[in-house]
Amino acid sequence: MATYEEVFRRSLEDPNGFWGEAAQNITWIKKWDKVLDDSNKPFYRWFTGGELNTCYNAVDRHVLAGRGDQAAIIYDSPVTGTVQKITYSEFLDQVSRLAGGLLSLGVKKGDTVVIYMPMVPQALVAMLACARIGAVHSVVFGGFAPKELAVRIDDAKPKAMISASCGIEGKKVIAYKPLLDRAIELASHKPDKCIILKRPQVEAPLSVGRDVDYDELLERSQPADCVTLAATDPLYILYTSGTTGVPKGIVRDNGGHAVAMYWTMKNIYAVEPGDVYWAASDVGWVVGHSYIVYAPLIYGATTIVYEGKPVGTPDAGAFWRVIDQHKVKVLFTAPTAFRAIKREDSKGEHLKKYDLSNFDALYLAGERTDPDTYQWAADLLERPVIDHWWQTETAWAIAGNCRGIELLPIKPGSATKPAPGYDVKILSPDNEEMPRNQPGVVAVKLPLPPGTLPTLWQADQRFLDSYLNPFPGYYFTGDEGYIDDDGYVFIMGRVDDVINVAGHRLSTGAMEEVIATHPDVAECAVIGAADNFKGQLPVGFVVLKAGVDRPAEELQAELVQMMRDQIGAVASFKKVAVVARLPKTRSGKILRGTMRKIADGAQYTAPSTIEDPVSLDEIGVALKGIGYPPPA
Ligand code: COA
Ligand code: AMP
Repeated sequence: MATYEEVFRRSLEDPNGFWGEAAQNITWIKKWDKVLDDSNKPFYRWFTGGELNTCYNAVDRHVLAGRGDQAAIIYDSPVTGTVQKITYSEFLDQVSRLAGGLLSLGVKKGDTVVIYMPMVPQALVAMLACARIGAVHSVVFGGFAPKELAVRIDDAKPKAMISASCGIEGKKVIAYKPLLDRAIELASHKPDKCIILKRPQVEAPLSVGRDVDYDELLERSQPADCVTLAATDPLYILYTSGTTGVPKGIVRDNGGHAVAMYWTMKNIYAVEPGDVYWAASDVGWVVGHSYIVYAPLIYGATTIVYEGKPVGTPDAGAFWRVIDQHKVKVLFTAPTAFRAIKREDSKGEHLKKYDLSNFDALYLAGERTDPDTYQWAADLLERPVIDHWWQTETAWAIAGNCRGIELLPIKPGSATKPAPGYDVKILSPDNEEMPRNQPGVVAVKLPLPPGTLPTLWQADQRFLDSYLNPFPGYYFTGDEGYIDDDGYVFIMGRVDDVINVAGHRLSTGAMEEVIATHPDVAECAVIGAADNFKGQLPVGFVVLKAGVDRPAEELQAELVQMMRDQIGAVASFKKVAVVARLPKTRSGKILRGTMRKIADGAQYTAPSTIEDPVSLDEIGVALKGIGYPPPA
């Protein structure tokens, strides 16, 4: 067995051999001409000339290989009292008929389809049906409000949309159809058709001419076959938060993505085809795309679609119940979910009721796993607890502990070592490599491995400006961190205005755009303050227009509601301070970084370029008024 060091070295020294070998696990219609195509640098492409269909790899081939009776999906929904197994054969039937339904509605190869669905198996059917016919799907997280959905509709310009009458969030039933209708009303682009899954919890009257009943469409449609796609054709677009209010449409290709997804299941997660793999996330996020849908299915594993929470559905033993009942081998979730369980059941009493003998390891990502949460989970589970660091852009881990190759010693607070394929470097602002243990910007030397973003949706220049131009020759991750003497990667946080709230990536820039539209607000800033449950929480600061004199509580309540209506409850925006002015540099740049340090109770020095140092003291007073920094 090769060691991690050997595998890692080979991945960088011989990418063609390394990934060409990994690609043997994928079923190709036509073999590639080149593994790594660097003929159009810095736009690298993987497996050019190759042809395949991702849906075929994720569904059909498993049925043909004798896995037809194995569960492809276990839908476990404590909020509706449902546990349902869908075999690969049944899944193939549903996917191919929805694919036929999409074709009958005029959706064809190259068209886009926006999917706005709760955590139900039909969300996966929808994604794979698109992949089957070469339509590019874009799943929008159900927790986003109509305006955010509208922005994505206008960018992706879907021919059709697929949604449901409702989602169920813990004890709340959320009607989706009015949100969908409102988003389409707000968007300039209008989809021709909307396919609506009617769930029994909420009625959804269909608009004549535009809306189609999901079940009826499936019933009446003929199965459609897989189309042939180029390895470099887009499979999906997934919008993610950038520094501005305009989200970035991350593009995923078919070939490199399929190869990478398969490779990670064995080498990072150490599972076998046929095992039960559970990513407790949401299909709307990249973790959901990669590890609820594509990787486990392409690998021939069983994936769990869990419509519930770590706590409250019904209790803090929910995760242990699912692991026991479905014989889960690997669980992947966000650290915040474990903090939620710890908060309710710090002694792990619930765990004693369940049999976890099939369970091998816990993987955490979405935010850094703080050492306390790591230790608590490791002591409780007595199994490897693995923090791994990645992004929507990459689709899989940039750094992690590749258990399938070799389990390296764990250092709490570190995501362990760079994953094969990623030449991770710490850079200074002048593009110089930093010495070991010195913090800097985290970058990856080009080319990135297969599966990572080839570009942004119809925005090559923005792709270059956001990721490749800041540090020529490297991919800029947006994170800062350091590498220690043993080569372990420590990620410390973002250098931009992106924040992570309960593992959800959000843009403070987008929140500022919402606040700025309030008629009483002259100026505003939003920062991400540390929170010991959700990791970070947004905190807003507003300067009122001259002459506005109203009770602060009233204004705060209005801004909180605006954020729920325009971005979504998922923003968890609850704290706003009214201040006389914002601290700025003499050139007018708001000192958000320093404000964040004050909110976190961290050491800070006022930058020499500050316009007026007293403005920082005022921020300290305003923050105290809304409970920051929180008591240790
Ligand atoms: N649709 C509609 N609303 C949603 C939603 C969805 N899909 N997801 C979340 N929301 C709402 C919640 O109901 C909540 O609303 P409220 O303010 O009215 O109570 C709000 O958005 C904030 O949600 P969340 O941040 O998830 O907080 P929570 O207190 O409801 O749950 C956790 C906290 C830790 C239990 C939950 O975030 C969790 O399980 N996270 C870990 C897994 C995960 O999803 N990670 C993401 C990527 S790996
Ligand atoms: P997303 O695109 O939603 O996956 O968010 C990506 C960002 O989340 C990264 O750029 C990091 O800032 C943060 N992140 C994700 N996983 C980790 C981790 N394991 N450790 C530290 N930060 C993480």
